[in-house]
Amino acid sequence: MNVTELNKIAVAMVAPAKGILAADESTGTIKKRFDTINTQSVETSRRDYREMLFRTKAAMEENISGVILYDETIRQNAADGTPLVKLIKDAGSIPGIKVDAGAKAIHGFPGETVTEGLDGLRERLAEYHKLGARFAKWRAVIDVGAQQGINGSYAIPTRYSLKANAEALARYASLCQEAGIVPIVEPEVLMDGDHDINRCCEVTHASLYALFGALGEARVALEGVILKPNMVIAGKKSPKQASSEEIAEKTVDCFRACVPAAVPGIVFLSGGQSEIEATENLNTMNAAYKDKMPWALSFSYGRALQTAALQAWQGKPENVAAGSAAFAHRAKMNGLAQLGTWSKELEG
Ligand code: 13P
Repeated sequence: MNVTELNKIAVAMVAPAKGILAADESTGTIKKRFDTINTQSVETSRRDYREMLFRTKAAMEENISGVILYDETIRQNAADGTPLVKLIKDAGSIPGIKVDAGAKAIHGFPGETVTEGLDGLRERLAEYHKLGARFAKWRAVIDVGAQQGINGSYAIPTRYSLKANAEALARYASLCQEAGIVPIVEPEVLMDGDHDINRCCEVTHASLYALFGALGEARVALEGVILKPNMVIAGKKSPKQASSEEIAEKTVDCFRACVPAAVPGIVFLSGGQSEIEATENLNTMNAAYKDKMPWALSFSYGRALQTAALQAWQGKPENVAAGSAAFAHRAKMNGLAQLGTWSKELEG
């Protein structure tokens, strides 16, 4: 597909006041989420839950530009037989699909992974395009290792793992563009560990340099790419947690140094931040730096859009209205954060 068409999709994915709902939890991950509300994860319960989200009209029409689906979901019908993809499209939102096959250990590199799923990807993308997907997602996982040795150097991530993941992301992105699908490239630097915000900053820099080098070499058109990164943030176990202002400043600085202006948008993952933290940090960035950024800055949250909805739903049909209302609220709050006009008082 030509770059103009891809760019049109990418720009729509980061329209003002809108962002992406990551509803692409694998069968294993959604089971973990359902375990927290004592609900069995079976095909129909997964369908009912996602149908509740996709039928939340206010959220889907006003604040959700696109939905990342899992293979099962893109083929599933709502209880009344309507394809779930149609519910998304009817709300004016764009269906997307997770296409990677997960992060797998790299032999000889303990603690590091490379994401697999390139074999047969061309054929799978052609099928997903027929099923309605107009964008895709591939997640690389980059762990920040502990300091080691007498000089306190870091062994992880290695240059090799950054390169291997960047090459896979670039090959995936190229195949997506060939199929008329906008690639979301996601190099996630994990929040696990006790590293401080500066170490996260260094590793995020290194992963983005490797990624944009590889995308350039593969002749991927950046106008038709969306970046999905972590925020620059201290590890969850770090005694030195940064303020929202510091997170915003370091994150925006990092991306201004590493992400070419041709990229239409950056959409963050929430990565284990609480719902309010994820909203607040996005808001701080857009409120303080909108004029300094060449790309739109938005969200592609999984947990930070769904936790309250899942808790309100509890797997029970009588709670669908409450679950839906909780999702609509989070979507609205994040839509405001995209504009930089959110405030804590609006949380109620
Ligand atoms: P979280 O927002 O829950 O981190 O999920 C986003 C996602 O899609 C990670 O790949």
